[in-house]
Amino acid sequence: MSTTMTTNPLRVGLRQERVIAPQCLVIFGASGDLTHRKLVPALFELFMQRRLPSEFAVLGCARRPWSDEEFRSKMAEAMADKITDNPKAWEQFSAGMFYEPVDLQKPEDLVKLGGRLETIDRLRATRNNRTFYLSVSPKFYGSGCRALADAGLLRDPERSRVVIEKPFGRDYSSAQALNKVVQSCGQENQIFRIDHYLGKETVQNIMVLRFANTIFEPIWNRNYISNVQITAAETVGVEERAGYYESSGALRDMVQNHLTQMLAITAMETPGRFDPEAIRSEKAKVLQAARLADELEPWNCCIRGQYGPGGSESAPLKGYRQEPGVDPNSTTETYVAMKLFIDNWRWQGVPFYVRTGKRLAKRLSEVVLTFREAPVHLFDAAGGSPTANQLILRIQPDEGAEFRFEVKSPGSGMRSRPVEMEFSYDESFGEPSDEGYVRLLADAMLSDPTLFTRSDEVEAAWRLYTPLLELIEDSPWRLPIHPYESRTWGPAAADSMLARDGLLWRRP
Ligand code: BG6
Repeated sequence: MSTTMTTNPLRVGLRQERVIAPQCLVIFGASGDLTHRKLVPALFELFMQRRLPSEFAVLGCARRPWSDEEFRSKMAEAMADKITDNPKAWEQFSAGMFYEPVDLQKPEDLVKLGGRLETIDRLRATRNNRTFYLSVSPKFYGSGCRALADAGLLRDPERSRVVIEKPFGRDYSSAQALNKVVQSCGQENQIFRIDHYLGKETVQNIMVLRFANTIFEPIWNRNYISNVQITAAETVGVEERAGYYESSGALRDMVQNHLTQMLAITAMETPGRFDPEAIRSEKAKVLQAARLADELEPWNCCIRGQYGPGGSESAPLKGYRQEPGVDPNSTTETYVAMKLFIDNWRWQGVPFYVRTGKRLAKRLSEVVLTFREAPVHLFDAAGGSPTANQLILRIQPDEGAEFRFEVKSPGSGMRSRPVEMEFSYDESFGEPSDEGYVRLLADAMLSDPTLFTRSDEVEAAWRLYTPLLELIEDSPWRLPIHPYESRTWGPAAADSMLARDGLLWRRP
């Protein structure tokens, strides 16, 4: 068979990647979950794709007194499935992995770290170029940055950068305070506030779909769109993270960051050019224009829920309050549904409904734009009345998009019925998209901030939800917890919120 027949034309030019400069990636919190679940696997993936320079090193740092060898073997153990088929590649990759016990609160440890980095620079030719990844408890983000700056490790803005995990702050004022601290440690372009949803191919595709096609932009507004639903549904429960989750809840864990980023990209104005600051400015602006649908009585536009037991007899599932480490009387929400408005010319009056929850019926993230109905119904519809057109952007799983529209039902009458037009990443490109962390780690090491959250964006997102957080703290009965059974679509109160607007949540 000729190569032309075996090559998928959609894959031509897929891997035209930018080149990562020689450098050392330093991970603080290297003994934690994220390092072996996401970060090191993402780096190994970049290595397998030949995207890491040969002058590269990973330095794991945490308080545990591990050796380089222990660090390598712990990572190998956790990623066994990825390594089994590529033992040689792992051997080469892990030769550049090192470990240094560091307590970010101890200045003498930072001095030691500086020395170790110089040794690694000599050994691996990493040229003083460093990306520091703070995968530590959020309470150490500010002091961690300060410690790095005081040790002189952020002095060169071209050769040092800090990646900060979420959550960046706990509310509006703490996010402002944290921004002040980190900005006093380095320049804004050295700070990479990560939100792994922005690393998802399908989230970036929202921008391409909107701004590389002429058909969508003219109708992407209040004149044609009646409402937008943004969903991030998970089937998993809180897993081993009760300690963190109990003080965070779904509002801080998912809504303030991931859902709000999807909302910003869906609703932002067209940037003047594809440039990090132009894009981030548009995202910040749209978030500054967003507000709760009912600011005076927010309980009308925000529903909190918590999963109870569920599952089947053979595979029963515990309720949130029965999970290890969770307070048996916990009022932490594992589900949030909310209605927002964006007060600008494009979106005035269009409700944006966002929802997220753990232990829901299906794992699914999507953005659904529902268009206005045809002004006059000329035809009978199979389902009673014609369904409104919908554009469904499938973020995960089954990445892709679909458009629903009415066609003539075969037969002698003139009845209409809805059909779908489909695009699937997998079918079209024939390769699964990378994990978000692969893209984002590469971008951080390339000093490309486009897919990271700027200080004004993060503050605008917190400003939006802080009235709810305060209400939960001061008058929790105003935003009560509605229990829902595991593996269902959440509390009935969330359905009622939409029913009041004559709508239903999409149930795929
Ligand atoms: C994380 C949250 O940021 O995102 C988790 O802390 C959540 O609670 C996860 O499970 C969901 O990410 P994804 O990529 O699986 O949708």
